[in-house]
Amino acid sequence: MLLVYAPMSNSTLNSEEKNRILKATEEYVKKELTGESSGHDWWHTQRVWKTAVKIAKKEKADLIVVQLAALLHDIADWKFNNDNESAGSDKAKEWLDKIGVDENISNHICEIIHDLSFKGAGVKSEIKTKEGMIVQDADRLDAMGAIGIARAFATGAKFNREIYNPEIKPTLHQTAEDYKKSKGYGGSINHFYEKLLLLKDRMNTATAKKIAEKRHKFMEHYLKEFFNEWNGKA
Ligand code: ADP
Ligand code: NI
Repeated sequence: MLLVYAPMSNSTLNSEEKNRILKATEEYVKKELTGESSGHDWWHTQRVWKTAVKIAKKEKADLIVVQLAALLHDIADWKFNNDNESAGSDKAKEWLDKIGVDENISNHICEIIHDLSFKGAGVKSEIKTKEGMIVQDADRLDAMGAIGIARAFATGAKFNREIYNPEIKPTLHQTAEDYKKSKGYGGSINHFYEKLLLLKDRMNTATAKKIAEKRHKFMEHYLKEFFNEWNGKA
């Protein structure tokens, strides 16, 4: 059932109202994303939500903005919506308006969702606020480590890409346009060199940097094994 709330500002949101908004958003996102098969499923969102809260508490950020942005960040991905980069923020805005979240808060959340995505090795992140940096870190941590490896192959398969094609070298994309067009060209292993191994040095917060170090090492170890097996050395 969809509940409709009157508009409210951040300062007037008491904890009961915050909980109600969060619960309704959790249910909405879970319904929308359950069963998604490219690694952008509900469980990815739930992990990002939890990680974002953990970082936000350490970094003393606005928890309601962080949580709503984390919950809604993959509600519609441009990669699977005709490359429309505003698909996610538009859909999030629709939902936040529906449940009566104040414009100041919803605009901040939608800006975060719009600016969150990785857009190529040579493209600078557009994220502007502490809350945005935290959600970006949480999202990127989930693209690393053991789970990140699983997600890379799931997304690669969604793009109909091979696991690896040694005849195609990785590209360090210098524009968002080039990155967008490539969509896993050369297989999922190339994605490690085009994005995943670059994430460690692009974390915004100290908390995330520490977690990223460990996940980065695990991916390096995985790739070493992968190429050992590929080359008949293991
Ligand atoms: P962002 O959250 O920065 O927008 P993406 O949506 O591109 O990042 O990444 C989400 C997941 O999809 C990550 O786990 C990432 O590894 C995977 N992914 C994105 N592009 C590719 C690709 N071309 N090949 C394999 N996996 C990919
Ligand atoms: Ni995500």
